[in-house]
Amino acid sequence: MFKTSFPGGFFVVMKDKTIKYQLALKQIDSVLEGESHIIVKMATINCILRETLSYYFWTGFYLVHNGELIVGPYQGTLGCLHIAFGKGVCGTSAQEKKTQIVKDVNKFPGHIACDSRSQSEIVVPVFNSKKELIAVFDVDSTEKDSFDDVDKEYLEKIFHQHFAVNTLEN
Ligand code: SME
Repeated sequence: MFKTSFPGGFFVVMKDKTIKYQLALKQIDSVLEGESHIIVKMATINCILRETLSYYFWTGFYLVHNGELIVGPYQGTLGCLHIAFGKGVCGTSAQEKKTQIVKDVNKFPGHIACDSRSQSEIVVPVFNSKKELIAVFDVDSTEKDSFDDVDKEYLEKIFHQHFAVNTLEN
C-alpha cells in the first residue's frame, strides 16, 4: 500500500501518513481534554485513528486482566476474546513489552487469525503512569507491509501522553 512505482512516491505517501497522524493527535488531544476513564479514552482514540488512517482495518485494545489479555474497545469484525501472554502478535507484545511490526502475518509463527483478510499488523503496548502494562493496541490492515516506524512513533506517543502522563485514573 505504501510502495508506489514512481520515483519519490514512497516519500510522498510517508509524508501523507505523518500528516494524518498529526491531525489525529490534535483531535485526540482536544476531544479527550479533562477525560480520565480509560475506556472512554480507548474507545475515542480507537475511533479517531480508524476514521483518519484509511489502511486501518481491525483496530482495538486488549486489556491486561487476571494474567491474560481480554478484548476491550474495538472496531471491526469479531475479535478473539482472550489471548494468553506470549501467544500471537498481541501476546508477544504484552510479554516483551515492545511494539511488534508484522509486515506479513502469514510469516509470523503463531499469529492468531481472527479475520483471514488481515495481512499485516502492528501491536503497541500501553503503560500507565507507574510504567505497568495495562493493555496492548492492535491494528490490522488488509494489505501487506502497511506499518512502519511512523505508525510506531505516533502510536507510542499517543498512548504515553494519554495513559501515562495526562491521567487522573489508571
Ligand atoms: N492477530 C492478533 C490477534 C487479534 S486480532 O487480529 C483481532 C494476534 O496474532 O495476536
